Amino acid sequence: MSGLLAGHRAVVTGGGSGIGRAIAKGCAGEGAETLILDANSEAAAAVCGEIAAAGGRARWFELDVRDRDACIAMAGKISGELGNITILVNNAGINRRNPFTGDADAVRTDWDDVMSVNLDGLFNVTHAFVDQLRATSGRVVNIGSIQSFLHLRTPNSLAYTTSKHGVLGFTRALAAELGKDGVRVNAIGPGLVETPLNAEARARNPDLVRIILEHTPLQRTGQPEDIVGPAIFLASDLSRYVTGDIIMADGGYKTI
Ligand SMILES: NC(=O)c1ccc[n+]([C@@H]2O[C@H](COP(=O)([O-])OP(=O)(O)OC[C@H]3O[C@@H](n4cnc5c(N)ncnc54)[C@H](O)[C@@H]3O)[C@@H](O)[C@H]2O)c1
Repeated sequence: MSGLLAGHRAVVTGGGSGIGRAIAKGCAGEGAETLILDANSEAAAAVCGEIAAAGGRARWFELDVRDRDACIAMAGKISGELGNITILVNNAGINRRNPFTGDADAVRTDWDDVMSVNLDGLFNVTHAFVDQLRATSGRVVNIGSIQSFLHLRTPNSLAYTTSKHGVLGFTRALAAELGKDGVRVNAIGPGLVETPLNAEARARNPDLVRIILEHTPLQRTGQPEDIVGPAIFLASDLSRYVTGDIIMADGGYKTI
């Protein structure tokens, strides 16, 4: 630990699994008091345990980011009991993979599900914490995707691609609005990272992995830990003159 986030209080949504779990552990490892907000309380508690065992400080709270009132209540509870947060990592997200031209009801349900977590959730959590972030010259790190730009090699996830384009738009618009308050807002664009989110797709469709890897200069899939460095960079003073941008962590996928 080099203490890059010493004195910080970081919220990580969806910190119970995959990329969020790695980022939560990374934030705690850099000295931040880390608060894991996840709909899956068992998973969040387990990650807290891992952080404590490694000597870090973490707490978990059950939160469904789709529930606006619950997000507002959670932000109030945290500032009242612990103090204002200084870092918000909006990581909670889901994917659905059905063709747009397939079963109409399924496609509509996919759309509703994905938008409610990936965009409504992003709004709900950020809006609930924005006063705390303005009070602390805080930092927001949103998790976008290569699908914030692209779709060709990742078909059958139209809602997800649309939502991740939205994450990038949200990042840029919020950065423009909150810069005067000293709040920086950035995003990370992971490539294909091996997590439970895509375990089934990887198992069912090895061609998906092959096609993505053929287009990835570093010639491997990502691991959740590959996203930690960019997250620490964007959350810390190392990136103090960076806002409204996205850092790709995709093995070079988007460059070619
Ligand atoms: N894995 C990848 O290849 C990849 C690539 C690009 C972007 N991403 C993005 O990274 C983020 C994390 O993905 P992951 O792969 O680690 O997924 P994951 O499924 O391993 O973890 C997602 C976490 O979010 C939580 N979550 C889901 N819905 C929630 C809700 N409504 N409220 C609160 N918590 C909720 C889950 O309980 C889980 O702990 C997502 O935004 C995803 O879109 C992932």
